[in-house]
Amino acid sequence: MPHDIEMANESSSVGPREWRKIGFIGTGHMGQAMIQAFIESGRVPANKIYAANRSDGKLKKMQEQFGINVVATNEQLIDSCEIVIIAVKPQDLAAMLEPIASTFLPSHIVISLAAGFSLRSLQRLLPDVKALIRVMPNTPATIRRAVLGYCLGKDASGYGPMVEDLFSPLGLVVPAPEGELFQSLTVGTGSGPGFVFELMQYWQEWMEEHGFAPNVARQMVVQTFLGAAELAVKHKDVPLHDLQDRVVSKKGVTAAGLQSMRELEIERALRYSFEKAVLRDAEIERSTARD
Ligand SMILES: NC(=O)c1ccc[n+]([C@@H]2O[C@H](COP(=O)([O-])OP(=O)(O)OC[C@H]3O[C@@H](n4cnc5c(N)ncnc54)[C@H](OP(=O)(O)O)[C@@H]3O)[C@@H](O)[C@H]2O)c1
Repeated sequence: MPHDIEMANESSSVGPREWRKIGFIGTGHMGQAMIQAFIESGRVPANKIYAANRSDGKLKKMQEQFGINVVATNEQLIDSCEIVIIAVKPQDLAAMLEPIASTFLPSHIVISLAAGFSLRSLQRLLPDVKALIRVMPNTPATIRRAVLGYCLGKDASGYGPMVEDLFSPLGLVVPAPEGELFQSLTVGTGSGPGFVFELMQYWQEWMEEHGFAPNVARQMVVQTFLGAAELAVKHKDVPLHDLQDRVVSKKGVTAAGLQSMRELEIERALRYSFEKAVLRDAEIERSTARD
């Protein structure tokens, strides 16, 4: 049985066998993916989920599809819920929170998905809230194959098990304190699917140039990535280097390709690109801290 969501905060007035009410401000891609995963996994019953969104259409759809509670305003959502998940785009976050910050109580648990807003910036926007948590998902959350990193504010240090239980239906949940770890997670897994799709496009284009129809080339590339990833999952105790060695024969075809990749310093190019992305993340965090 998962850790009950209600167990993490002993000071709460919520009874020991009741689920906390969880509210989403924003039901776009990530909000919808999370609501769907919570319900379909049985992690949180629909009647404990609330949602508010700027426009009505998505809310109606979620209510019809999943039977969640929808409310007309963000204030109503905050009043109705003990846990508030902020799932609006980073550029909308400050303008959304500023007028309603006083609605939050010190007992609220606030989970922000927004890239570029440090715990410190969130605390500045929500001075009364004690338990602040950041969660960084990635797009495979929509198919429940995400990597989600999280970090806890200083008054939320006891909430790790709750965060892991709540979000585990979406994929792998990894603690990563703010700073270098959270930044590398933001780039390596948050942005990661973007980098993987870049590589897949090079692969597909090359196969097309050699005569495969685009749809066939795409299928072959996707299956190659998927097959390699599933092999790595199946042989989880085998180092990736050893799985690679199983493809390579001395002076063979793969060996020639790998030698060229190493001569061309593909690793250095990727590391350089990741570091550039980390710099951009730090720059965005600095700008949201100043605003
Ligand atoms: N997608 C990803 O891969 C990913 C990865 C990591 C982190 N995240 C984070 O997840 C968060 C959500 O991203 P997303 O991709 O789900 O964005 P999205 O699809 O654009 O959804 C954002 C939702 O927020 C709603 N919204 C905007 N302002 C609002 C307000 N003042 N009050 C209530 N609702 C409001 C929007 O309503 P409308 O219907 O009116 O547009 C929209 O439905 C972001 O902070 C992002 O950084 C996303």
